[in-house]
Amino acid sequence: MHSLANKRILVTGASSAIGAQIARDIIDQGGKVLGTYRTTPAKQLEQFSTEDSFESVCWDALNAPDFLELSSPFDGWVHCVGTIHPQPIKYMNEIGNERLFQVNYFSATHMATALVSQNLLKPGASVVFISSVSSHYPYRGGATYAASKAALETFAKALALELSAKKIRVNTLVCGLVNTPIYQASVAAHSPAEVQRMEEKYPLGIGEPTAVSMPCIFLLSDDSRWMTGSQLLLDGGLMLNA
Ligand SMILES: NC(=O)c1ccc[n+]([C@@H]2O[C@H](COP(=O)([O-])OP(=O)(O)OC[C@H]3O[C@@H](n4cnc5c(N)ncnc54)[C@H](OP(=O)(O)O)[C@@H]3O)[C@@H](O)[C@H]2O)c1
Repeated sequence: MHSLANKRILVTGASSAIGAQIARDIIDQGGKVLGTYRTTPAKQLEQFSTEDSFESVCWDALNAPDFLELSSPFDGWVHCVGTIHPQPIKYMNEIGNERLFQVNYFSATHMATALVSQNLLKPGASVVFISSVSSHYPYRGGATYAASKAALETFAKALALELSAKKIRVNTLVCGLVNTPIYQASVAAHSPAEVQRMEEKYPLGIGEPTAVSMPCIFLLSDDSRWMTGSQLLLDGGLMLNA
């Protein structure tokens, strides 16, 4: 496994299914996590972690990350904050458009500016963004979600370029369907036949959170020290059928 011994990692959206798994695996590999949540702290993480390996802080991505003012620098940052709001373009409203873009995209840009301007990413730190295959293959009702993830991927590359002088690396995990509340919400918005058709497109089946957290640990570790500006495709073979 890839060691994260003594690395201190910021996980924004540590209360998400994927974020909580990533936080847990960071701690498992000897790292320490400052995790953000918006509504409910990840209770299972607090129980799992030892004394100082996990701290959590409430942060709504629509607000400035003021909690950073008291923080010491990080060896890494994983941005898991994200939301969906399925909506055909014909009926698109402020929540499905501007708000969704704000949560999925501007949360990352504002946090990046705060971290960089306050020197909170150590030289050699690793940043990981979580994107979606829909940024390349959009789905009906997902125009803004797909566009926000496409913007996030481009931003990650620009950030990688600007931070390379400090050997800070920025990479993106481009994920297919993962079995989480976001996926369950999407299931609820489709008919059973549509869900079956969707799942059948995955030769290896849809993913579980560990299928994302393990590659994320690799990207956070020094074993990926020559990778920056990359997009790692995690899709259970979906693109084989594209
Ligand atoms: N699941 C999939 O199939 C899939 C596929 C590709 C990419 N992704 C991406 O992976 C990431 C994690 O997804 P998930 O499935 O684990 O999601 P999830 O369980 O639904 O969690 C979403 C996370 O975003 C946080 N969040 C939402 N709105 C926020 C806001 N306004 N301010 C701060 N935090 C906010 C939530 O915090 P609270 O819970 O505290 O409200 C939660 O931590 C997302 O970026 C998602 O787009 C997921």
